Amino acid sequence: SQTRLWGGRFGGGPSPAMAALSKSTDVDWRLAPYDLASSRAHARVLHRAGLLTSDELDRMVGALTELSAEVAAGTFAPIEADEDVHEALERGLLEKLGPLGGKLRAGRSRNDQVATDLRLYLRHNVRALVAELSALEFALLGLAERYQDVAAPGMTHLQHAQPVLIAHQLLAHAHAIARDVDRLQDWDARTAVSPLGAGALAGSSLELDPDAVAAELGFDRAADNSIDAVSDRDFAAEFCFAAALLGVHLSRLGEEVVLWTSTEFGWARLDDAWATGSSIMPQKKNPDIAELARGKSGRFVGNLTGLLTMLKGLPLAYDRDLQEDKEPVFDSMEQLLLLLPAVTGMVATLTLRREILEAAAPQGFALATDVAEWLVSNGVPFRSAHEISGAMVSFCEEAGLELDQLDDDQLAGIDERLTPAVRSVLSVPGALAARKARGGTAPERVAEQLTALEDLAVVH
Ligand code: ARG
Repeated sequence: SQTRLWGGRFGGGPSPAMAALSKSTDVDWRLAPYDLASSRAHARVLHRAGLLTSDELDRMVGALTELSAEVAAGTFAPIEADEDVHEALERGLLEKLGPLGGKLRAGRSRNDQVATDLRLYLRHNVRALVAELSALEFALLGLAERYQDVAAPGMTHLQHAQPVLIAHQLLAHAHAIARDVDRLQDWDARTAVSPLGAGALAGSSLELDPDAVAAELGFDRAADNSIDAVSDRDFAAEFCFAAALLGVHLSRLGEEVVLWTSTEFGWARLDDAWATGSSIMPQKKNPDIAELARGKSGRFVGNLTGLLTMLKGLPLAYDRDLQEDKEPVFDSMEQLLLLLPAVTGMVATLTLRREILEAAAPQGFALATDVAEWLVSNGVPFRSAHEISGAMVSFCEEAGLELDQLDDDQLAGIDERLTPAVRSVLSVPGALAARKARGGTAPERVAEQLTALEDLAVVH
């Protein structure tokens, strides 16, 4: 087509198969607003370098602003002949300005343009992602606060291990999400570097000012190396990693919601608005959000793997392989922005069943460690204490009793060091309260955690 950006030395148009393979507008049109913003900044830099008159600059910026509105309204869109977002937008500019539109491309290449656009897209959307994550943090904190005094079985190997406050477990998920926010903010500081000015790979001879463009687009500075500027996709890979790890966190939270709402556990109930039914079994209430959170983690990991594999062994500076950076990035971003509000709603409306949790907390001999530690505090070496407590469990298992149901004679029969005073630690509140060092599940430590995480979530 006559709007192709690279027609000069070519005799005819591309073959249909070539054009079909090369075309990326269905994917990269998402970059249009960012491409237009960076074009406006580039026009100003051309003006400052004396390459556009003030009048030309006004007309250029006016046309770019009009185009932005048309893109937003959907009245300007790519046509079949457009290879990518950059070509489509240049066509739009030429349609409005005639030959003047052709001046904007001076000192710029699609190579530095696309690297800039993708950074702008990600920095903008990461802000939206952080807002969603902070909403999820608040939902987890709210749930923890509502059930702050409720004990539950803490698990290892999915078996009753030691009692914990259910709030302690919920806050463990909140800590993971808080680290995700921290990771994205840290990522942003590293990504605030503008590739514009690198041109195709070597920089421009036109005396443009890369730092001025960078500042106008909200970057901290321009890149120090033009080859690195067009070939670096660390920011995309790092984002995909942050997204994959966040996805993994959501999958672990999702799995717990699946378990907790199962008939066998019965620890939690989903709100009707955040669950689905079965088309055949009228009694069903399914945790689809939790399962989609669990399931979608696969594609986040896949996006990261695909992107890293594409980058591996790629020679500097630009190669067309790099065009394949966009789908994994867009998919991870869009799917997370779709998933997070649903997960947050599910968490915020979850009902926990206090009596069931409290009753289950001591079951499965979950206080056996407390017996061993009680023996240790009476001077028994931990090795022996572990054995004595183990013998107590085995006796109870045989007799069909819980630890606190053993009478004085039964205790002494197991080991003479098991005096009746051991009963002082055979209570869930006692076991919780005793774990009062930093990081423990004692109510006062959990209350502190809640406050600290609330302060953090407010900052997020
Ligand atoms: N659409 C390409 C991409 O997304 C940018 C074009 C660069 N093309 C080129 N032949 N140098 O990576």
